[in-house]
Amino acid sequence: MAIPELPKEYDQLDQWKTLMFLYSSALQEVQTRVNILSDEFHHINHYNPIEHVKARIKTPESIVKKLKRLGFEATIDNMYRELHDIAGVRIICSFTSDIYYLADAISRQNDVNVLMVKDYIANPKPNGYRSYHMVISVPIYLSSGQVEMKVEIQIRTIAMDFWASLEHKIHYKFEGAAPSHMRENLKECADMVALLDERMMALNESLQEAGEPEDD
Ligand code: GTP
Ligand code: MG
Repeated sequence: MAIPELPKEYDQLDQWKTLMFLYSSALQEVQTRVNILSDEFHHINHYNPIEHVKARIKTPESIVKKLKRLGFEATIDNMYRELHDIAGVRIICSFTSDIYYLADAISRQNDVNVLMVKDYIANPKPNGYRSYHMVISVPIYLSSGQVEMKVEIQIRTIAMDFWASLEHKIHYKFEGAAPSHMRENLKECADMVALLDERMMALNESLQEAGEPEDD
């Protein structure tokens, strides 16, 4: 069987549809957990740590392309075992401190396994990319059993997201070979974004210490 933990009634079903059902369930599961953490944070701190959350499932074309690139045959088994970004959630926060707050809170949940962490905030990519990446697995509770599904979580500030969107467009437009003046410009913008995030966070800390009026 392609997915080892699945109950046996799944043997008869279309495996692709089963996998997509499981990934979409995993996305729902993670989104709900993130929403609860956000509501709780607001309840305690009186500001919303999350600007918005985007969730997506990788398209079949890009699943096949990635498996090929990694040297695997496009099978259900390989999709489940080798890819960790079929289900992806991107969380856009206000401040850098909110990123670590959420990442820690998610990681501490008893039934969450953290499979991989890439902290591109502490260690930005050479092009200037900053973001916090985690791959986790969460159990999906089925009628007769449970199955562990992987979800890639990217957490960034609004400013990091603004930068990454433009960098992505430029990267795509020039097929990965943007002219050097554009790359230098992007790197300078990334440094400005890092400084902006730092100063905005410091301002927010001062605001919190001053005890803002309650807004609910
Ligand atoms: P992928 O094969 O692209 O998934 O990369 P990876 O397996 O090496 O993982 P990594 O955590 O480095 O990147 C995963 C995702 O982060 C990408 O699919 C993008 O969404 C985002 N990302 C990583 N690097 C960059 C970057 O330099 N610029 C932008 N705009 N996004 C990036
Ligand atoms: Mg990816």
